[in-house]
Amino acid sequence: MIEKLWGSRFKKEMDPEILGFSSSISYDKKLALYDIEGNIAHAKMLGACNIIPKAESALLVKGLEKLKNKLSHGKLAIDETKYEDIHSAINFLLKKEIGNTADKLHTARSRNDQVALDVRMYSKDAITGISGKINDLQICFLKGAKKFSDKAITMPSYTHLKNAQCILLSHQLLAYIEMLERDKERLHDVFKRVDILPLGSVAHRGSTLPIDRFYVAKLLGFSKVSDNSIDSVSDRDFAIELISDLAILSMHLSRIAEDFIIWSSDEFGFVEGDDAHYTGSSMMPNKKNPDPFELIRGYSGKVYGDLVSIMVMMKGLPLTYDRDMQLDKLSLFEAVDTMNKVLPILKKVLYGIKINEEKLKKASLNESIYAADISEYLVTQGYATNNAHKIAGEIILYALSKGRLIKHMSDEELKKFSHKLNKRIVNDLIDPIKSVSRVKSYGGTQPKSVVRQIAKWEKRLRKPA
Ligand code: ARG
Repeated sequence: MIEKLWGSRFKKEMDPEILGFSSSISYDKKLALYDIEGNIAHAKMLGACNIIPKAESALLVKGLEKLKNKLSHGKLAIDETKYEDIHSAINFLLKKEIGNTADKLHTARSRNDQVALDVRMYSKDAITGISGKINDLQICFLKGAKKFSDKAITMPSYTHLKNAQCILLSHQLLAYIEMLERDKERLHDVFKRVDILPLGSVAHRGSTLPIDRFYVAKLLGFSKVSDNSIDSVSDRDFAIELISDLAILSMHLSRIAEDFIIWSSDEFGFVEGDDAHYTGSSMMPNKKNPDPFELIRGYSGKVYGDLVSIMVMMKGLPLTYDRDMQLDKLSLFEAVDTMNKVLPILKKVLYGIKINEEKLKKASLNESIYAADISEYLVTQGYATNNAHKIAGEIILYALSKGRLIKHMSDEELKKFSHKLNKRIVNDLIDPIKSVSRVKSYGGTQPKSVVRQIAKWEKRLRKPA
């Protein structure tokens, strides 16, 4: 028979098929630890406010601590066929532990505020954990940025996936750190809206019993107590906001993965993954594929799906609690689990990446990526931008159509385009290191700027080992 926290106004036992359909225990058992901790704080408060005798409060706490201990040793057996959800399960497991006093635990409380509490506690830990993993990934990019900045490795940048200009590889790696920093900031920001205690809102209108919600908040480490009981059992926007932050994070990870997939291609060959990370083909013995990056790219779709599910699930619900909201956990847990899985894998695969410096060097010799250098040089010589752009374009066209390298063009050839050009000047303009070093604007790819960025991140992130 099933053990429920309700039933006296019903004449029949619950249909097992309906119970199976409506039960959330298969997934909300993930909240067991938070549920027990919330219960301990609640039990302490009931005693401190003399709502139940102090001895009974102490017995509840003792029993709950036992359950917590069992849980931490993997010894808390929860029979999923017997309970509707984790809240009922913990209550009845406590009863087995300490007897009828357990029936006092649910005083001045409803599962509506209890589940809101558990999900908030889970979300706080999830935010802290994921932020730490983002930080680790940033450190991985920082180490790369430092290494390749010392070696002054240049490469072409891309727009429309076409060769654009010459940049330092480190500048691009530092761009990933910036993206990830904003992801961390967003998580930091949503934390403030998660860190609000809903417990004590009870079903939705509060309690006639003299509970002390501020005491519970203090015990559980919440920095605020919710001001409106109706809102606090109805609200799931904190979870939606968290998932949307994770969706943005997963979009960033997908874009990073995409860069490495492209760079791993035979045509680019800029990077090569570790043999222990890339995978082969069952039919084509030649293949070494960047599957982990592809899966990371693919997983972002799942997180977007979680966001859409919870948004659609919530949009038509009348206040206050509706059972639809039970499904919030499916979206939230999946999004959090996905990011917890993806972030360390991305870090591991990146640490295994070897940069093919020769290929990058060769790619930096593509003279067309210095067209803007020629054009900006002409601007410094008094040309109007449009005119300078036109001349640089003509040189590129001439080189392409005549099959000539710019570096081989004679003074006479160059003078035809502009009297301000000669062989020495042009060879300076198409030199990779000189090119990046000429950049002056704040935040650009010049070595000084890259060194400044590295110093900033070394200060902000834990120092790379
Ligand atoms: N399992 C439920 C959930 O996750 C707990 C709250 C149930 N409340 C109720 N009034 N039926 O949302």
